[in-house]
Amino acid sequence: MKNQLEKIKKDFFNAVTEVKDALQLEELEQRFFSRRSGELTQIMKNLKDLSGEARQEFGKLANEVKRELEEVFAKKKEEIKVSEMGDILEREKIDVTQPKLPGKERGHLHPNTLVQNDLEDLFTSMGFMALDGPELESEYYNFEALNIPADHPARDMQDTFYISAQGGSASGGKNSNSWVMRTHTSPMQARAMQKYGAPLRVVVPGRVFRNEATDARHEHTIQQLEGFVIDENINFSHLKGVLDVVAKHLYGDKIEIRLRPKFYPFVEPGVNGEVTCFLCAGKGCRVCKQSGWLEIFGAGMIHPNVLREGGIDIKKYQGFAFGFGLDRLVMLKYGIDEIRILKSGDLRFLRQF
Ligand code: DAH
Repeated sequence: MKNQLEKIKKDFFNAVTEVKDALQLEELEQRFFSRRSGELTQIMKNLKDLSGEARQEFGKLANEVKRELEEVFAKKKEEIKVSEMGDILEREKIDVTQPKLPGKERGHLHPNTLVQNDLEDLFTSMGFMALDGPELESEYYNFEALNIPADHPARDMQDTFYISAQGGSASGGKNSNSWVMRTHTSPMQARAMQKYGAPLRVVVPGRVFRNEATDARHEHTIQQLEGFVIDENINFSHLKGVLDVVAKHLYGDKIEIRLRPKFYPFVEPGVNGEVTCFLCAGKGCRVCKQSGWLEIFGAGMIHPNVLREGGIDIKKYQGFAFGFGLDRLVMLKYGIDEIRILKSGDLRFLRQF
């Protein structure tokens, strides 16, 4: 029996060095420690056939061997666990320094989307919500609700694509029976006021459409970002404060903004907003046409007629609004001098971002 025990021990030590993975470890466990057929278990079972002293002597020896084997087994188990973990880490590790694999071209965001996302983040951090609006808009929301009646000359500057015979529709607003491809994102002013009431902080990024003779600076389809705030005690300095934050965020801390009067039917007073030309730091260059300033937005205090259309109590609330041409921001940011390239789908252009 002593010999048997020695043999098991020797077999075990031989076998344990061969074990390389969890499966082999389990086989080893079965072979020696299995309750029913394990070699060591068997020998322990045989102990009870011995008598008296012999039983005591072998019992002690067998227990020592058992403990020793179990210890070695536990150590091996730990080793296997660590090495398998290492394998997983090895298999799943990502080499962030590896250059792009050849042949596989990946898509990425368009520069307009990059700037739009960036601005949405900035505005939502200031408590604005970002809303979408319909691109096919009723004449009512696109013009009338914005204080641009049918005979107003301002409509000439925003000629667009009229869609015929849509008929009246509840979602088109008051008495609306004609539809246009929206000329700006401002129609969301009245829509949001009617839906959410005051107070309100909203930005609306989106595509707008104009009947435009296209050239390097004019496109029929562009993107805008409209914004407006309605609350109690809102005044012009709040407008200036917000636009100052936006300008500095876009072009750096040294940038100043300049507001000069300009007529827009839906604001009063209305302004044309410029920022210091960041290319020449205001000294005058080709891009700013030697003026030192770049025009990037329109803005103003929301006209009471617009607030009224939106169902806002004008005795209690005031608001300001602004509109950026997103394409223009993108062109200035990246030094692009041809607007038509933005939506051209030209990969030689797109690959640069
Ligand atoms: N909707 C105007 C446009 O497309 C831009 C604009 C100007 C928006 C002044 C405003 C604003 O909210 O206050 O030309």
